[in-house]
Amino acid sequence: MIKTEVIGKPISRKDGRLKVTGQAKYAAEFGVNNVAYAFPVRSTIGKGTITAFDTGAAEAADGVLQIFTPDNAPRLKTVNMMELFKSGSFLGEMVLPLQDKKVSYFGQYIGLVVAETYEQARTAAEMVKVTYARETPAIDLKMEMPKAETPQAGFGGAVQLNAGKTANIIKTAPVKIEQTYTTRTENHHPMEPHATITVWSGSDKLLIYDATQGVKGVAGLASYFYDLKPENVQVLSPFVGGGFGTKGSQWSHILLTIMAAKAVKRPVKLVLTRQMMVTNVGRRPETIQKVALASDKDGKLKAIRHENTSYKSFSGYFEESGKQSKVLYAADEREITYKIANFNINPPTFMRAPGETPGCFALESAMDELAVELKIDPIKLRTINHTAIDPEKKLPFSLENIVECYTLGAEKFGWANRKSQPRSNRQGKYLIGHGMATATYPAIRSTASCKMQMLINGSVKVFSATQDIGTGTYTIMAQTAADALSIPFERVSVEIGDSLLPPAPVSGGSTTAASVTAAVLTAANMIKKDLINLAIADEKSKLKGRKSEEIEFADAAFFIKNDTSKTDSYADIMRRNNKVMMEVCATSLPQNGGGLGGNFAPCDTDQFTKNEDADASSYSFHSFGAQFAEVHVDEDLGIIRVARFTSVHDAGTILNEKTARSQIIGGVIYGLGQCLMEETAYDTRWANPVTRTFADYHIPSNLDVPPIEVFFIGKPDPHISPIGARGIGEIGITGVAAAVANAVFNATGKRLRDLPLTPDKLV
Ligand code: MOS
Repeated sequence: MIKTEVIGKPISRKDGRLKVTGQAKYAAEFGVNNVAYAFPVRSTIGKGTITAFDTGAAEAADGVLQIFTPDNAPRLKTVNMMELFKSGSFLGEMVLPLQDKKVSYFGQYIGLVVAETYEQARTAAEMVKVTYARETPAIDLKMEMPKAETPQAGFGGAVQLNAGKTANIIKTAPVKIEQTYTTRTENHHPMEPHATITVWSGSDKLLIYDATQGVKGVAGLASYFYDLKPENVQVLSPFVGGGFGTKGSQWSHILLTIMAAKAVKRPVKLVLTRQMMVTNVGRRPETIQKVALASDKDGKLKAIRHENTSYKSFSGYFEESGKQSKVLYAADEREITYKIANFNINPPTFMRAPGETPGCFALESAMDELAVELKIDPIKLRTINHTAIDPEKKLPFSLENIVECYTLGAEKFGWANRKSQPRSNRQGKYLIGHGMATATYPAIRSTASCKMQMLINGSVKVFSATQDIGTGTYTIMAQTAADALSIPFERVSVEIGDSLLPPAPVSGGSTTAASVTAAVLTAANMIKKDLINLAIADEKSKLKGRKSEEIEFADAAFFIKNDTSKTDSYADIMRRNNKVMMEVCATSLPQNGGGLGGNFAPCDTDQFTKNEDADASSYSFHSFGAQFAEVHVDEDLGIIRVARFTSVHDAGTILNEKTARSQIIGGVIYGLGQCLMEETAYDTRWANPVTRTFADYHIPSNLDVPPIEVFFIGKPDPHISPIGARGIGEIGITGVAAAVANAVFNATGKRLRDLPLTPDKLV
């Protein structure tokens, strides 16, 4: 494990000043000469066929350069999913834009207007008249259930587990609960909407400014569809105003701008409206989840059964809401099944802790119901069923301090003062309740590369095709370089968000922190090795002739172990060897064999980190945590106020206490939104979303957010990397909704199983 001094410190983000002073440029803000503006025409029906376009008036409108419809749009090549995936791209939607006249959902792109200004393009798009032959859209999950398919594989492989195996155990168990939990469609709604500017140079070179969680994926998409050499496609995304999964795959607007820019022979810019953020870039689909728990009289689980129903539409994605039920709690037998319907609503996609976010609501509500049934404290019930090994893989967790999370959380939250009897805690007109839930998310590390330059003036530059989606990537990479080289944090600069830099994975699946810091460490180790080799061969060095094993480093210099008189600084070595710069490119391979991010050639195949003391295939990699909520319920008005929240996580080494805390706070707030207010509602007649702006799609605002206390266990995970850090972008949301709903039960005695917990469900 590496020595951490700068790593872990609550250092303010490196890009903070640029952001607060407005100097950080986001995709839509890049000034490009002669740019034209695109605005899509979107379907106004949920299902059917376009019978006619009338573009006459729109074509005559001011400033219009060209109008694309399925009648005249260039044909795109048929997608070979494996080939596309190999190029690093993952299409959010399988229906390519403007290729036929079928309408599969409301808001689908069916045309594109390109004009001199944004206003002209938008006005003309509204003037395009479309006639349809309508069909009835499928949008009701209960109605579609009989037609639902049984999927065999999801993103992590096989999904159906032990179908039918728990029925007998559950039937004969002395204690059981069986309940159905439902969650609604949600949209990601990052502050920054998707935006793309596409600039062609001739017919074989492309520059794209894009708001993305993965510059390599966008570049892969362009090179796949237009048969471009990877080195001829540059995607820039230096700053991203939030992603949460919606910017993790590539959506049709990117293809449309590339297509349009080629046709009009000008750069083209397309910025999604907030309304399009609801219909064109994915969402979290609704789920129906039936959970059965069977135990003996002491609370020991005999069976866990989790039946999941959701839907997909024109995408490979469905919500794997049974994921947490695979790893949480010991039980004699567990059964996890899925049914997936086909819908006429825009495709669902990854959204912050995809799977676990709705899944933990169901499982952790059910655990609370079982605790009530058994009259056992909810923490005690979870502790009784604690498992230190992954119950499915039968492997120990690489790091597992879940009971410590419960204990620390209980102490900080004041769980001991909780009244276990519902409706027994009152303050004036409010009923007070306390609830908790377990949080969990996989710990993934992917292959990542980074270039590093050390200059003779003592500064170090780090380059990688990763991205900072608001999480702190710039900062943690600089912190890692500072410790790995023992140089001041301020001397490190970081350049990312450029697809032509050494490859790194998509910033999804909480994978970036663990992956790119390992790449930085590998690069730093290579530079040190190169410097040491120069020194031990150098007559003028005090390290001349020494073995590399006896050489240590501190304060930008090497010294002989236990003899600080024998030192040689990086700068002196470089000066004597006439080097103004040392440069390396390093690739680090994941220890846990998994990984996201396409099939990119690493930059130096000889230089992989090896975690000598660990056999990674012998471990299961998962993070855990505990969530605690206090609610104040006004029963007359049905209003639930979360008064305070405590969130404890076991996520390995914490790279930066400030940005990490901020991530967890963001996750908890996202969970409060899921629990109390967020719902994309559809008009069942037209299949159109009626919650299309922040006026009607409610997200927590400042007054909805209570004080949130965050604690980390902070022990390194020795098996994930020599730094020991895991990603924390997603675990913060998991379990939040259940903790709040369980607190509502504790306050009121009412069990609410249908999110969001709006006032109508309580009164
Ligand atoms: Mo995250 S939902 O995997 O971008």
